[in-house]
Amino acid sequence: MGIVNISKLDISYESTKIVKQLDLVIDDGEFLVLLGPSGCGKSTLLNAIGGLIDTSGGSIHFDGKDVTWADPKDRGIGMVFQSYALYPTMSVEKNMSFGLRIAGVDKATIDKKVAWAAKLLQLEPLLKRKPSALSGGQRQRVAIGRALVRDADIYLFDEPLSNLDAKLRAELRLEIKKLHKTLKSTMIYVTHDQIEALTLADRIAVMKDGIIQQLDTPHNVYNKPQNLFVATFLGSPAMNCIKGHLSVHADKVLFKSADLNIDVSGYPFVEQPVDGAAVTLGVRPEHLIAELNEDASENVIQGVVELVEPMGSDTLVWTKFTEQHTLSHRVTSEDQLSVGDSFKVKVEATKCSIFDTQLTQRL
Ligand SMILES: Nc1ncnc2c1ncn2[C@@H]1O[C@H](COP(=O)(O)OP(=O)(O)OP(=O)(O)O)[C@@H](O)[C@H]1O
Ligand SMILES: [Mg+2]
Repeated sequence: MGIVNISKLDISYESTKIVKQLDLVIDDGEFLVLLGPSGCGKSTLLNAIGGLIDTSGGSIHFDGKDVTWADPKDRGIGMVFQSYALYPTMSVEKNMSFGLRIAGVDKATIDKKVAWAAKLLQLEPLLKRKPSALSGGQRQRVAIGRALVRDADIYLFDEPLSNLDAKLRAELRLEIKKLHKTLKSTMIYVTHDQIEALTLADRIAVMKDGIIQQLDTPHNVYNKPQNLFVATFLGSPAMNCIKGHLSVHADKVLFKSADLNIDVSGYPFVEQPVDGAAVTLGVRPEHLIAELNEDASENVIQGVVELVEPMGSDTLVWTKFTEQHTLSHRVTSEDQLSVGDSFKVKVEATKCSIFDTQLTQRL
């Protein structure tokens, strides 16, 4: 079993509070990703779960057992550190088995486990080599292997793919996903790479300044961000954020911003929309759809292309729709758009996000 229950956790370095009153329950077998900008406290939280640093308040339970002050070796965890250090004088095999040898596990068991991990991580041909004779990706896999042979209920990964090129990252990402399917252990995975978070996680905890901003499925975190921070942190290129206000009528609700009017009647407001409320409309670039029908008018806006950025599979276009509104939108790479072209898009109101501008919370 690997249920992790974190309650009202505080962690401080000297007088600076890094993690604040943090509550988080992680299910047995769940793949939870901690995602957030550099310095928000991800490693600090992970290290506290692993028992590497002291907490200043609150508690951590594994399967109902209080481990807040337990020694790391008594927590039944496997851990891959952000700065994974391999022993340079030991072979891959010895690096992987080090923890088990220290723990006095018998040789037959060690051999079996190392062979299993080496097969899983495709390290079999490299077992006799020293770390200096490995590529960065191979070293990183050895660090993962060293954690896996621990046979833990809970694995902690701190940016295990951070030093790899994009191709290797994608390959190892897939391996980690497969590994999770095979092992069915609880995995807590730190990253500031949103693609890693979105592809791997069962749930993502988006952190800022030591506080979880949203804990949800990848789909909801991306499509239903609960505040402006989450909305703008996820998504590349970023969501367009337009400040304006609501205009509530008997038969419809409009979003108004200077001379831009968007009918948002179809938007699933959580509470009754208030006339005149200052709001920010968030529209992802892929939700401004090219409108080719000349007669279409509802939520169709027209502008002049200012910048074209080819991105391979598609193209990001910056179009000036009004004096105040230059927005980014995606078109397929076949669409040959040039600066100065006139272009129409339809705003998909149901796919937008609307936030209270002052409170920054989703409405
Ligand atoms: N030993 C320490 N003493 C004092 N402050 C520290 C210490 N370790 C970390 N911090 C501070 O705590 C904050 C959170 O650090 P942490 O390493 O948890 O960030 P992170 O979210 O993992 O960032 P990154 O994505 O860059 O790894 C940072 O402001 C950092 O400077
Ligand atoms: Mg870190």
